[in-house]
Amino acid sequence: MDMQPIPAREGNHNLKDYQAKRKAFSWEEVKKNFSWYHTGKVNIAYETIDRHAENPDKKNQTALIYSAPDREEKLTFSDLKNESNKFANILKKQGVKKGDRVFLFMPRSPEFYASFFGILKVGAIAGPLFEAFMEQAVKDRLEDSEASMLITTPELLERIPQDDLPDLKKIVLVGDYDEKSDNYVDYYKEMENSSDQFEIEWVDLEDGMLLHYTSGSTGKPKGVYHVHNAMIQHYATGEWVIDLKPDDIYWCTADPGWVTGTSYGIFAPWLHGVTNVIRGGRFTPESWYGTIDQNNVTVWYTAPTALRKLVSSGDKVVNQFDMSSLRHVMSVGEPLNPEVITWAVDAFGLRIHDTWWMTETGAMLIVNYPVMDIRPGSMGKPIPGVEAGIVDNEGNELPPNQMGNLAIKQGWPSMMRAIWKNPGKFESYFINGWYVSGDSAYMDEDGYFWFQGRLDDVINTSGERVGPFEVESKLIEHPAVAEAGVIGKPDPERGEIIKAFITLNEGYEASDELVEEIRQFVKLGLSAHAAPREIEIKDTIPKTRSGKIMRRLLKSWELGLPTGDTSTLEE
Ligand code: WTA
Repeated sequence: MDMQPIPAREGNHNLKDYQAKRKAFSWEEVKKNFSWYHTGKVNIAYETIDRHAENPDKKNQTALIYSAPDREEKLTFSDLKNESNKFANILKKQGVKKGDRVFLFMPRSPEFYASFFGILKVGAIAGPLFEAFMEQAVKDRLEDSEASMLITTPELLERIPQDDLPDLKKIVLVGDYDEKSDNYVDYYKEMENSSDQFEIEWVDLEDGMLLHYTSGSTGKPKGVYHVHNAMIQHYATGEWVIDLKPDDIYWCTADPGWVTGTSYGIFAPWLHGVTNVIRGGRFTPESWYGTIDQNNVTVWYTAPTALRKLVSSGDKVVNQFDMSSLRHVMSVGEPLNPEVITWAVDAFGLRIHDTWWMTETGAMLIVNYPVMDIRPGSMGKPIPGVEAGIVDNEGNELPPNQMGNLAIKQGWPSMMRAIWKNPGKFESYFINGWYVSGDSAYMDEDGYFWFQGRLDDVINTSGERVGPFEVESKLIEHPAVAEAGVIGKPDPERGEIIKAFITLNEGYEASDELVEEIRQFVKLGLSAHAAPREIEIKDTIPKTRSGKIMRRLLKSWELGLPTGDTSTLEE
């Protein structure tokens, strides 16, 4: 769709200043904002929390506003420092050391954030898991990372196959539980007796900080490994893109189980010392508008799926709330529809700034920063200090308006440093000095990037990345399913939905009940967002002669597109 650019607003920024600053940009300059610039001693937990807690002007400022249907709580920077110190002492007592993997599997809560920073303070690597994961998803991640410790709630215990996880030594339980075990640590009891003084484990910039598991088109989810150095880019994008000012009240809607929920739900806002709103509970248009209204949120980072739901909830709902506190809105995770941008200009007088990045990239790379004119439908331009390009499969740059691989020149601060225990996979991302994203895009003459789609089979449903292999593997565990092929099918609200094609084992008859049973099987085994919304029973699934499922062909059939080259198709 062709739409007129929406010009940048006057007021917050001076464009000339901005351009001069951009010209002078260097990552070296950004480093001067950190305490370690002179000492060389780093820990991202110190920069995000303790630094502000040691500042007399900031320590009593509200750092976290926790707001859930059944609980409201405020923590200052000083509170967060003390709580995370206490938790760090618990970990130390349990023998957790630098480099150990400690996972979190629980809903967002003040306890989550205290634990998260406690993990970083002992120098361990934090692995946050999305609370909706079911047994298989939890097991795959704990097994691959060889996590020695897990923080969870008693309600989620049944999804943790403890007997199959020999490396998992201890489980910290946040809440009351009956079953006694030497492996369990009572969070509240231990916190009560724990000292709020803790000597942070100082680490190197290149030491491990986070493992985020994410999906590719083949194999199990892979552990994307990030290091403390990423803070440089979290900080810089907090300034350049999120436009954080000391008095801001910021809200990022993402769960910390996904990278947006850590890089921008935790690090960027607190590196800048702003008040951060954390909302628990389920999404409804009323609860989200209400969160902005009640807390006077000024800066909001959210996702297209949620925005589309807000659009379809209608003007009547938005008009019941006061959105006038908002001054800056951003989006990430999937293509942002131009219609949604136009709607936001009408609904609350603000443009929505799209941002593009990935779990692997650790932080924003291509964005609409505040002083830019927005071309609705475009992801924007690279941030200062980053070079993006469109390249062919050999890593040669393509001219403007030509579609190809969206790629980034290696060397930005927040780049993943490894795929956990899988060096081959890590290497496969790079061609000719470029990190190749797996997305296709083109760049126009003015340097704006336009997203075109994924080049692999990765599915993006409601902004969540799902690997078809994971879903296929779960499907064929069901006794009725012989073979399975899984694709993403375009959907106006969710971006894509998961559609599965299956064949049945002998003795099973196709029926609506069976299809529903299989769907539930995936939902309860893996997670609700990975369960296919559509399941079609076929006589055969197209495969290559080497036995690989031809998802591309399934997709072409589904969409009624030409099937292209099928020469490798099995007889
Ligand atoms: C997609 C989320 C279109 C893309 C931070 C990418 C987007 C994948 C955008 C990464 C955007 C992210 N427009 N597509 N602005 N942002 N994507 O790892 O396909 O969960 O490769 O990271 O989401 O998803 P991930």
